[in-house]
This record gives sequence, structure tokens and C-alpha cells, in this order.
Amino acid sequence: MTVTRSVVLGTGSYLPAKRLTNEDLAKMVDTSDEWIVQRTGIKARHIAAEGEMTSDLAVEAAKRALEAAGVAPESIDLIILATATPDNTFPASSVTVQAKLGITAGFAFDVHAVCSGFVYAMATADAYIRGGLARRVLVIGAETFSRILDWNDRTTCVLFGDGAGAVVLEGQEGEGTAFDRGILSSHLRSDGRHKEKLYVDGGPSSTQTVGTLKMEGREVFKHAVSMITDVIEDAFDDTGISADNLDWFVPHQANRRIIDASAKKLGIAPEKVVVTVDEHGNTSAASIPLALDAAVRDGRIKRGQTVLLEAMGGGFTWGSVMLRW
Ligand code: ACO
Repeated sequence: MTVTRSVVLGTGSYLPAKRLTNEDLAKMVDTSDEWIVQRTGIKARHIAAEGEMTSDLAVEAAKRALEAAGVAPESIDLIILATATPDNTFPASSVTVQAKLGITAGFAFDVHAVCSGFVYAMATADAYIRGGLARRVLVIGAETFSRILDWNDRTTCVLFGDGAGAVVLEGQEGEGTAFDRGILSSHLRSDGRHKEKLYVDGGPSSTQTVGTLKMEGREVFKHAVSMITDVIEDAFDDTGISADNLDWFVPHQANRRIIDASAKKLGIAPEKVVVTVDEHGNTSAASIPLALDAAVRDGRIKRGQTVLLEAMGGGFTWGSVMLRW
């Protein structure tokens, strides 16, 4: 039986020029390189320049993904941008990206699932492709979390960074088995009862301000590993791929301890885990495509290999996507 699969044609990413180290942060708030590295694994993060917006980061990552895919911008019929830090309350930043790429056909929209945004956007793109509504889709995760941080709050400002990553997906025919290239499974979840554990205390309808990020770090940590392992077990069950024959695990880069604990619980060998949190910090919806692009460009991820994406974030939202590269 032939089926339509969403195959990755290329990846791209972009980090703003300014690199902010733990030592730099220690001059701003009462913290230390030792504390941050020990609790999170983060050594540095990148910060967008004044006037540099989420759509600007997204466009750079998108251009690189289009180049790597070897396709023209005008061949894209759908752009899905995952972000919790749009340029404006509306319109969606994806339409700004569309215009900046010179695309005038097709359609574009934003997906908002905070740190799980890229996983949600990949699953959404796959549904549009399989449903016949789009053939070639640009999926982007881009964030400027530096704009919603309280830079006097050491419990949150040390954790996040800015950046963007993108992939080009194309509908291709597969045999309907786990040996097909493309997205093999997606599992998405949310549970709004956890809203207060990780949120931004502003918004157009509540305060008419943007607000800053608030987090109960311990509570988030407590839920993260079990939620992550749940949706990964679903991906394993659905595809028949296991921790043993998985080639690459590309998790959301929130915290080194969450990544290590999840991989350990699932029996995924440390050498199969792609880690960029040390240099990027937590870039929310951008973290997975940034990590993917790093591992593709340095030659680790190769055509035909199995790749597992996973994320968990504010809401709570969480999910997994299994694909064959
Ligand atoms: N520097 C120095 N000390 C600090 C800092 C800092 N930056 N931040 C907090 N502390 C202090 C606290 O004040 C506290 O001091 P006290 O004992 O005198 O009261 C002490 O360190 C311990 O604080 P905790 O919050 O209990 O530290 P914990 O070990 O839980 O680590 C952390 C905090 C890193 C936030 C951890 O809870 C965590 O990683 N949680 C997951 C959160 C996360 O990753 N969120 C990302 C968004 S969601 C997602 O993407 C999955």
C-alpha cells in the first residue's frame, strides 16, 4: 500500500551574533558559572540584537534550509512558524517571513505550543501534507525569549536564549512501513491544568502588556521526564523502532539533566543523544531544529537513519515525532 510521507529535504539554523556567557550573567545577577553548569549544563546562549525580531531570525534559518534542500522559495506552499515570541500580537509572524522570502502564493500560520512548538508544527505539517492540502512545507521554530525574561530574576534569566531553526518537508510516496523515509509517527499531548507552573504574566486580553516569564522550576522538572518518556514510548510502540535500533535522539534542549534522565530511563545510549543546550541555552521552539541542523551539518545524521524528536513545555504541552531521515 502506498502512503504519503513527509520527507525532510534540508535543514537550516541561525543564531544571533551576541553570545552571552555565564560569566557575563554573573555580572548582572547573583549567580555563577558553576551553579548554572551544574544545574542545567548551559555555558552560553545567544541574544538577538536591538531591533532584530523573531521573523528576522526565522528568515535566516529558512533561507539556509531552502538552500540545503535545493528548492526555490516560490515552490513552498505552506509556512508553519512555531513561536511564543511573535513580532506582534498579530498578524502571525509567519506571514512576515513569507513576505521577506518573496513568497506570494500558498499560505502561512503560526503555531503556539511554547517549547513543544516545533514538534507540534512538524505534526501539523505532516497532517497537511498527508491530507493533500500542501506538498512542500517550510517548518520553522524561532524565538526571542530574551524579550520576555525578567533580567533581574536569576531563577529564569540564566536558562533561555534566542535563535531559529527550519526544515523543508516534501510529500513523497512511501510503502507504508517503518523503512519509508519521512515522518513515521507523531504524538501530541497537552494538559492545561499545569498552566500556572510555567507562563508569561501578560498578554493582549489580560493585561494589555507583554509580561515576563514565570516558572516553578522544580515542578516543571518533576513532570518533564515522565511526560517525555510517555510520548516516546508511544513512538516506539507505533513504529516498532526501539531504543536499540534508534540512530539519533534530538530532544528539546531545556536542561542537560532532563535530557540525560529521559535518555537513561528509555535506555537510549548517550552517544545517540544530540546536545546543544551547553551553547544555545533553552531556545524554546527553536531548540530542536537548531540541534537537528547542527547534527546534519557535522555529518552525524545521515539519510536513512531513524531520528526521534521530543519536547515538553509550557501548558503543559508535550510530544514526539519519529522520522527516517
Ligand atoms: N544562580 C544561583 N543560585 C540560584 C539560581 C541561579 N541562577 N537560581 C536559583 N538559585 C538558588 C535558589 O534561590 C535556591 O536557593 P536557596 O536554597 O537558598 O533557596 C537554590 O538555588 C536552589 O533552587 P532550586 O530552584 O530548588 O534549584 P533546582 O535544583 O530546582 O534548579 C532549575 C533550578 C535549574 C530551574 C531546575 O528546577 C530546572 O531545571 N527545572 C526545569 C525547568 C526548565 O528546564 N524549564 C524550561 C522550560 S520548560 C521546558 O522547556 C521543559
